[in-house]
Amino acid sequence: TTYAEATTANTDTSAPTTAAQPTLTILYGSQTGNCKALAQTLFQQTQQQGVTSELVSMAEFNPRKLKDEQGLLVLVSTHGEGDPPDDAIGFYKFLNSKRAPQLSQLKYSVLALGDSSYEHFCQTGKDIDERLEQLGAKRLAPRQDCDLDYEGEAEQWQQNTVKQWLESLPNASSTAQVVSINPSLSNAVQTEQGYSAKAPVEAEVLSVQSITGRDSIKDIYHIELALPEGIRYQEGDSLGVWADNRADTVSSVLEALSLDGDEPVQLKGATLSLREALTKRLELTLITPPQLQKWAQLSAATELTVRIAEKQHLRAYIAQRDWLQVFREFPASVTAQQLVDSLRALSPRLYSIASSQQLVEEEVHLTVAQVKRDNRLGTHYGLASNYLADRIEEGQTVSVFVESNSHFKPSSDAQTPLIMIGPGTGIAPFRSFMQAREAQGLKGNTWLFFGNPNFEQDFLYQTEWQSYLKQGVLEKIDLAFSRDQVEKVYVQDRLLQQAPAVWQWLQQGAAIYVCGDAERMAKDVEKALLTLIAQQGQMTHQQAQDYLESLRSNHRYQKDVY
Ligand code: 2AM
Repeated sequence: TTYAEATTANTDTSAPTTAAQPTLTILYGSQTGNCKALAQTLFQQTQQQGVTSELVSMAEFNPRKLKDEQGLLVLVSTHGEGDPPDDAIGFYKFLNSKRAPQLSQLKYSVLALGDSSYEHFCQTGKDIDERLEQLGAKRLAPRQDCDLDYEGEAEQWQQNTVKQWLESLPNASSTAQVVSINPSLSNAVQTEQGYSAKAPVEAEVLSVQSITGRDSIKDIYHIELALPEGIRYQEGDSLGVWADNRADTVSSVLEALSLDGDEPVQLKGATLSLREALTKRLELTLITPPQLQKWAQLSAATELTVRIAEKQHLRAYIAQRDWLQVFREFPASVTAQQLVDSLRALSPRLYSIASSQQLVEEEVHLTVAQVKRDNRLGTHYGLASNYLADRIEEGQTVSVFVESNSHFKPSSDAQTPLIMIGPGTGIAPFRSFMQAREAQGLKGNTWLFFGNPNFEQDFLYQTEWQSYLKQGVLEKIDLAFSRDQVEKVYVQDRLLQQAPAVWQWLQQGAAIYVCGDAERMAKDVEKALLTLIAQQGQMTHQQAQDYLESLRSNHRYQKDVY
């Protein structure tokens, strides 16, 4: 899916080109496709301006070529715990290695995409930016870090960097004049209805069903929706769900801040009431550090300022609260507009899809854990999980879109054995993998590791797994019910207990898939895999790491973790 194109492909003959102009390389590392789309737009923009440019994915880029580059614009996102996108791993490692060359000939700038609710916000972009400077390269323009709502800032950065590039060229005066940004270009990469957050479709709710027992410590729901005809998704993809804020939350926020809700406010060029903005457009659940800092200033609450001054405290503070709780604890006398300007835009929530269209056709199924925690400041409700579990009814519709995930795909070779590790709601994509294999009449070569607190209460989709086992669609299952005995047992413990067989599967070409909690589970599973590989393959730790790395680069170790 990479896209590399040289200027020779430019057919726009009206744009002036200069024979000896050095190439501006637009290099992107993208996980979900946002950086790629931005890079494509930027490439088209530069082409129309007569800039000699080249578009290339980090996955395709030969980093040894860096020493010949003169102009480089890097667009890169960051994932989970500050990790580079899968496509960018090779480039990132090379750049940070001793092999990286001196780059004093290079002018560059970095656009970093991320999500400020994560601790390592834009870390990959920051690292690349700093490292290029360290290697002697000169910035054309400062790095731009962008949050989820990146369009405006990205556009500004693009305009600025291209302008700086043109001005840095020897024949600057003549070329720089062609800089005129055509506003329609920012829409050059159009997304089809149903395939982007900005172009959702309405899906009808078919059923909402609790799938954990009455005495479970968890509330997990199986949700079935009907997609409009023609919307396609693949196994491993996610479904984005837009949810409104709860009416009672909005009312409580207004009350806490002594606002009434009818105040007109401006948001992205439109006028609407404060209540509407709070209900449909602004984030009230997730707290992000930049927004909390703004609030600390507005409320002039020294206690809050002190608490968030230290990164560690900030994280702990955020993890335990939502905005209503912050407003109650640290009220401020703000205008409706100030409140609107201090909050982040509401963002959709992504769920790994639990069904395969090969079996369910126009339906899409989700496995949703309801987030609802009581603490001394009130009840904290997760946004979309409560919307899906409690607030929607059969027959109603939900705004959704398919987010494809090319980094979590069952092998196109049906003979490749699958080792699937998915505790908790991490089970979802494996239900889709199994449905696809059932539809294709495939048997064997599949091994599931599942875990949850309690066998009686939390064995998600138990009867389906049992019937898949019986039919042979599922070859093996290993279960880790963590709280059914004194000592905790997790999926990684089962992996290690099964080490010889897991190793044998790997020797036979198996691919490993991990889905679920990123913070602890996925890390512990990775450690267990390294131990298993070192032990079974009689390797040093470094060799085991290289082995896992080669699995990763051969798409035989894929993760969908959150
Ligand atoms: P616990 O809550 O009993 O500790 C799904 O959430 C399952 O993952 C639960 O059984 C949970 O166990 C378990 N779990 C918690 N931490 C884990 C970790 N670090 N690695 C793997 N599984 C974990």
